[in-house]
Amino acid sequence: MGGLWVPQPFITTNSVLLWVALLCLAPAIRSNGPPQAILTLEPPWFNVLRDDNVTLTCEGFQTPGQDSIEWFHNGTVFPNHKDSYTIPAVSFTDSGHYQCRTKQTALSNSVKLQVFNDWVLLQVERLEFNEGESMTLKCHSWKNKPLHKVIYYHNNKALKYEYESFNYVVSQVNYTHSGTYFCTGFIGHFSHPSAVVIINVHGGASSTTKVVIIVSVLLIVIAIIAAALLYYYKYKKPANTPLELGKTEVENSMSYSLLKHTDNPEEELSGPSP
Ligand SMILES: *[C@@H]1O[C@H](CO)[C@@H](O)[C@H](O)[C@H]1NC(C)=O
Ligand SMILES: *[C@@H]1O[C@H](CO)[C@@H](O)[C@H](O)[C@H]1NC(C)=O
Ligand SMILES: *[C@@H]1O[C@H](CO)[C@@H](O)[C@H](O)[C@H]1NC(C)=O
Repeated sequence: MGGLWVPQPFITTNSVLLWVALLCLAPAIRSNGPPQAILTLEPPWFNVLRDDNVTLTCEGFQTPGQDSIEWFHNGTVFPNHKDSYTIPAVSFTDSGHYQCRTKQTALSNSVKLQVFNDWVLLQVERLEFNEGESMTLKCHSWKNKPLHKVIYYHNNKALKYEYESFNYVVSQVNYTHSGTYFCTGFIGHFSHPSAVVIINVHGGASSTTKVVIIVSVLLIVIAIIAAALLYYYKYKKPANTPLELGKTEVENSMSYSLLKHTDNPEEELSGPSP
């Protein structure tokens, strides 16, 4: 992490203007690193049942067949150099965080995988959502055993029932979708409830809020530049302008003539007496 070069005497107005320019340019300078590798999970659910199959794929913009990919599980390198990693039947030790990196990229996003042991699991892509995003819930059975009479619940209230297994999709979540979820389904003659999953929906910045933020930032930048310019002209301006010089000259001559007038006026009129 290289810090910005700081000019030593930064009291002058030119330095103020330089700092304003640097503040405006800083985001562009910072984003100038290698691109991040992108790690995805397929199927996309972070929570899976024992014996499920999952595949992790690392997109790193590398030329194919280079076998130069590094994979990390819980922060430790493990021996795989392909651009994807398939776990044929997950077990508890496969839980944790995964990341990848190629020669051309920075370390990827972290992908979480959590393995459970149950008959039925309510699967989700993640537990945190932003307003406006889509959310899919999947009532999933161990070893994909046929699942019937599926019901989804939100805050203990039944949302939807279907005889055949189905996914529950919310195309645009808002804060009312936060809370607890679970599902129930029949495997053979027995009904199995899933464990409860807690979903959080965060108030995303709406487009009008974004516009307000951008306008505020612009106004602040303009105010800083205006303040810097004012400061610059105040201290660069000579102390006595020609106008002020003229004024003092007039004032001086006025007081001079007043003095002349207060000099004994009778002397002038009468003149020297014989
Ligand atoms: C995992 O893949 C194997 C081989 O394709 C398949 O037999 C098995 O049913 C799959 N397991 C699950 C839970 O889908
Ligand atoms: C990785 O971490 C998860 C949870 O922190 C743990 O359950 C799992 O056993 C760990 N696996 C390895 C191989 O370190
Ligand atoms: C939240 O979304 C549901 C539809 O999924 C909609 O009926 C409801 O009006 C929304 N509530 C708010 C406060 O936006």
